[in-house]
Amino acid sequence: MKIGLVGYGKMGKIIESLAPNHGLEVGARFDIGNPLQDDAQTRQILKDIPVLIEFSTPESVMHNIRCGLALEKQMVVGTTGWHDHIDEVKDLVEKNGTGLVHASNFSLGVNLFYEILKNAGPIMARFEQYVPFMEEQHHQFKKDAPSGTAKVIRELIQPYFDTEIPISCVRAGYIPGSHAVVFDSRVDTIKLEHVARNREGFAEGALIAARWIQDQKGLFGFQDILGTLLQQSGKKESNYE
Ligand SMILES: NC(=O)c1ccc[n+]([C@@H]2O[C@H](COP(=O)([O-])OP(=O)(O)OC[C@H]3O[C@@H](n4cnc5c(N)ncnc54)[C@H](OP(=O)(O)O)[C@@H]3O)[C@@H](O)[C@H]2O)c1
Repeated sequence: MKIGLVGYGKMGKIIESLAPNHGLEVGARFDIGNPLQDDAQTRQILKDIPVLIEFSTPESVMHNIRCGLALEKQMVVGTTGWHDHIDEVKDLVEKNGTGLVHASNFSLGVNLFYEILKNAGPIMARFEQYVPFMEEQHHQFKKDAPSGTAKVIRELIQPYFDTEIPISCVRAGYIPGSHAVVFDSRVDTIKLEHVARNREGFAEGALIAARWIQDQKGLFGFQDILGTLLQQSGKKESNYE
């Protein structure tokens, strides 16, 4: 299957390099100098490209989503910062009969980490001797703190605890990103941590999403993809038996 890249920065380039491993081929690239447009020429360029992967900037993402859906393309959107427009995007997806999957973090590992934490929160909250807190570290260039991923993690476990879970943030060096949830008692520490080695994890997740979204209609998050992956791995297990 052919895919189009909307945004050809660090993420766009890694996605392109890993696409063949997923049986995907990049057939078109759009960037600030060659933006995605809803016009006849772009329709022609994209005629045999069903899926667009969007990793651009918070300033351009809504324009790209509006165009991509008007062009009736299936979309994978990694750029964040447009959540205020979620109702509009849902309406456009329905109106145009397409599918769009978005996630503030496309890493499979981080999404599995979320699943583990969904179980850890209610277990640990039963033992008040354990006090929760969070740590996250990113490179010196990351502007936001806490990270979007740290906020998602806190939302997953906060409901089980009465006091606000503090997040300690470090911005230094070239750290790709790490997130930890710590439960600390007088006698020991339980630390659950996800450490990204590089950006490839995000790109791999976006490519998995591109294959998944090709025949879906509606608005989805990575948890929907994870549901399919868990089902498939369940099937594999039973085959093995
Ligand atoms: N969800 C996730 O898992 C995940 C993971 C990593 C990153 N992200 C997010 O994804 C976005 C891209 O990350 P990145 O590391 O690839 O950033 P980046 O290297 O800065 O790349 C962004 C690219 O978008 C281009 N761009 C600007 N305006 C555009 C427009 N109107 N149409 C198309 N392209 C346009 C930029 O062009 P110029 O360079 O010419 O300005 C640049 O090439 C960021 O918002 C980042 O926070 C999400």
